[in-house]
Amino acid sequence: MEKKFKRTLITSALPYANGPVHIGHLAGVYVPADIYARYLRLKGEEVLFVGGSDEHGVPVTIRAKKEGCTPQDVVDRYHNIIKKSFADFGISFDVYSRTTSATHHQFAADFFRKLYDDGKFVEMESEQFYDEQEGQFLTDRNIRGECPRCHNLDAYGDQCEKCGATLSPEELINPYNANSGNPLVKKKTKHWYLPLDQYQPWLEQWILNEHKEWRPNVYGQCKSWLDTGLKPRAVTRDLDWGIPVPVEGAEGKVLYVWFDAPIGYISNTKELCESAPEKWGTWQKWWQDPESRLIHFIGKDNIVFHCIVFPSMLKAHGDYNLPDNVPSNEFLNLEGDKISTSRNYAVWLNEYLEEMPGKQDVLRYVLTANAPETKDNDFTWGDYQARNNNELVAVYGNFVNRALQLTQKYYGGVVPECGKLTDTDRATLDEFKDVKQNVEKLLDAFKFREAQKEAMNLARIGNKYIADEEPWKVIKTDPERVKTIIYISLQLTANLAIAFEPFLPFSSKKLREMINMQDFRWEDLGSTELLKPGKQLEKPSLLFEKIEDSAIQFQLDKLEATKKANAAAAAKADPIKPVISFEDFEKLDIRVGTVLECEKVKKMNKLLKFLIDDGLERRTIVSGIAKYYEPEQLVGKQVCFIANLAPREFKNGLVSEGMILSAEDFDGSLAVTTLEHKVKAGSKVC
Ligand code: MF3
Ligand code: ZN
Repeated sequence: MEKKFKRTLITSALPYANGPVHIGHLAGVYVPADIYARYLRLKGEEVLFVGGSDEHGVPVTIRAKKEGCTPQDVVDRYHNIIKKSFADFGISFDVYSRTTSATHHQFAADFFRKLYDDGKFVEMESEQFYDEQEGQFLTDRNIRGECPRCHNLDAYGDQCEKCGATLSPEELINPYNANSGNPLVKKKTKHWYLPLDQYQPWLEQWILNEHKEWRPNVYGQCKSWLDTGLKPRAVTRDLDWGIPVPVEGAEGKVLYVWFDAPIGYISNTKELCESAPEKWGTWQKWWQDPESRLIHFIGKDNIVFHCIVFPSMLKAHGDYNLPDNVPSNEFLNLEGDKISTSRNYAVWLNEYLEEMPGKQDVLRYVLTANAPETKDNDFTWGDYQARNNNELVAVYGNFVNRALQLTQKYYGGVVPECGKLTDTDRATLDEFKDVKQNVEKLLDAFKFREAQKEAMNLARIGNKYIADEEPWKVIKTDPERVKTIIYISLQLTANLAIAFEPFLPFSSKKLREMINMQDFRWEDLGSTELLKPGKQLEKPSLLFEKIEDSAIQFQLDKLEATKKANAAAAAKADPIKPVISFEDFEKLDIRVGTVLECEKVKKMNKLLKFLIDDGLERRTIVSGIAKYYEPEQLVGKQVCFIANLAPREFKNGLVSEGMILSAEDFDGSLAVTTLEHKVKAGSKVC
């Protein structure tokens, strides 16, 4: 069902304004969205590219408490940092606003109110944790307590960062307020829920049947949510930071951040349209006219919100277009480790721009070349350097520089006449004529990585052509022939400026200035008459420069320093526990067991299930260490385990009869304790 659209509205996930953006965000969302927006604009299509900061939510309040300032201070600071760094990086938003704006507050409240008035929500009372001294309900992230699995004393209400267990606040032992330290009680509170279960049949039809073309990772995640069965989702929270729930009797409640943030796409569009209606028309045109197409660029942790929750909200409201596609990327890792805002382990855009001035396009190139489109990918500084030196400098830059320098040298910078074409000339021209179609096909399918590769191919063709034709030699024997070689090289150069504009806009601009090409359109790609004979070009300068080892080492050292600081903090965060008596110690029965069998546990990918010979009989022990070991690695090993721990049952009915001892390193890696030499199974450890 190819539909023909008149215009495209491109949204990119609104980043949380509780920290700067990093390369993971860029690779996942903003670089591909920007490539797409630039590409459509270059094609002369009507495009609106929306961005903005997501400024509500609990993390902002936590950060504010920690820093002793207001939530508004936090979001003001990061909104400005993020906005500036995006602009400096060439992310070509038509609007970049924020969810604390008056326009947004009003719009989101009205949106909620309409659904409320139309009876689209269900009201439910539930028991939530409450801090009586502070007179405040707490959200999952603000609740801490002892982890029921690993007994870490400071697990969060949604997750234990020690053992990785996903938790709900009810499971915590002795829950307390993470900010005040006060103990918590349960108290009834009322909230509004979007009954997603009612939208299930419609979503199944719309996504699973009508959008089979969505990326497999997106389609697959939607399918798995739908297969599990959707449940009503609360769209309000007891919190004092956010958009007040516009209903009487809802004092102290705000809209859930994931309810208001996507509405930010609409309110930001509205803000833009109202600031320049003659240019943009009405916001309704972009959101409600069936001839407008909506594309959401997001990271994979946002899929459910953009494919299931937000569309249900739009559907409940009525009159809105639904997303036509949601090209979501997987994650980008950094030097083999997970990027983490809370652990400060990232390449931050604002710092990159300061430390690597003028190198926006290098990062853009590397992030696209290595885009996590189909699986998680790894960013390494070594790869960054290699791609710059071996591809941007040695292929693209080198070719352009040769063509322009020779034009200066032989013709004073004036484009020469084209003479008779040789077979090689023709073959070269034929080869690069296909590029337009190839790049288009790939960009239309959101395959940015391959599209950029194809553009680079154009430079490779040029590089090979000029190297094979050797005009610097031919000039001595056949100066007429050199005119044609240079003419063709210059046309290729002009084509490169167009082909790379969506990907590497800074270099394209620089190149266009050097060749005095003011007008340029995507349509012209493939033309061999972009630079007319007699045209005067400017004095060229290098498009890319080699990146030295020292600059790379600087970045690697910085990451190492962060890791060290984290390890030190982790070591400090875990003081030795209070002294216990010898009798207490004697209660523990630690034994040696032989691992007879070890296997993964279906649907619980953190767990390994062991069959242990404990010297007397066989017992099953389940351990959350699947991330660190393949089952085969442990079969036959002797391990130490606590033999008299009360059996624990897992959600799926599996019962663990004991606990295998292992050591957790500060860097988060883990080693099972084994014995220095073999002993009999059942031997006591003391
Ligand atoms: N702030 C969210 C995140 O970084 C994304 C919000 S996208 C929006 O994961 F649709 F809600 F705006
Ligand atoms: Zn735990």
